[in-house]
Amino acid sequence: MSAERNATAIAHPNIAFIKYWGNRDQVLRIPANGSISMNLDGLETRTTVGFSPELGRDTLTLNGEEIKESGLARVSTLLDRIRGQAGFTDYAQVISENNFPTGTGIASSASAFAALALAASTAAGLALSEAELSALARTGSGSASRSVPGGFVEWYPGEDHASSYAASIAPPEHWALTDCIAVVSEAHKATGSTGGHAVAETSPLQAARVADAVRRLEICRTALLERDFEQLADIVELDSNMMHAVMLTSQPRLLYWQPGTVAVMRAVTEWRQAGLPACYTIDAGPNVHVLVPSEHAPVIAARLEEVPGVLEVLQAAPGGPARLVNPG
Ligand code: PMV
Repeated sequence: MSAERNATAIAHPNIAFIKYWGNRDQVLRIPANGSISMNLDGLETRTTVGFSPELGRDTLTLNGEEIKESGLARVSTLLDRIRGQAGFTDYAQVISENNFPTGTGIASSASAFAALALAASTAAGLALSEAELSALARTGSGSASRSVPGGFVEWYPGEDHASSYAASIAPPEHWALTDCIAVVSEAHKATGSTGGHAVAETSPLQAARVADAVRRLEICRTALLERDFEQLADIVELDSNMMHAVMLTSQPRLLYWQPGTVAVMRAVTEWRQAGLPACYTIDAGPNVHVLVPSEHAPVIAARLEEVPGVLEVLQAAPGGPARLVNPG
């Protein structure tokens, strides 16, 4: 019986075009506003979960290293939810690997909790719908809700656990966009996103940002569906700037940018003014995601490598949904 309680899943990280920042419910991670993102193909987390009555506690290994304390506690909280639903109490061994370089600050909590939710719920014998799986992943990391469905995804904020989940608004092949990720010089260990969401409301700008979110979501969704890059670029940069305005005016103030971040923002602005289609968006870290129609990716990536402070440029096309794989 115990030997059968195993499953392996793969999920991609995602980059938000319209950002999630701030919760209405900190525990369930019900967001203050809806968000839209694209999954990142080629970058992935692979997670194997095995429940067994022989284990004395949950264990977590990430990229070959055992993780304890808060990292493990966050995983156990999600496993508890699954055990509660499945009606058993066995502990689990969780083994997770990212194929993207650690230490580059590429957000891994989205792919991590999407892969964990799928592997653990399958191992536990629960047959969850995509919406249920997305809601489950959300409780581990809000943005993980968006790494469950494939391609271009919208997270509907909802009001409670069941109504706050993400769904695909277009498949990966809908639009050949590339995310050129400019990895910039090392930052100090900044406030993580969980801490950031908790202080979003202390900024006087957050209420205005949230009040305007439905309008931005609508523009972004339409631009995506119509493959209108100019509209997309304009709303994506506005939305990123609005989130960083909130971060910069929170208590404590959160400044995630490094000199290289600003150098890329300036360069991308100049390139677009000169007619090259590219726009930037930045999460809770110093790296800059530069979105471009894929045919322009080689030129933009080469130019980004020349910007002072840029260490490396990764490229990702739209990615598929979280999926089960054979262990190995
Ligand atoms: O899912 P979390 O709690 O790591 O929050 C993600 C927050 C941002 O990456 C800054 C924005 C987003 O929507 O992904």
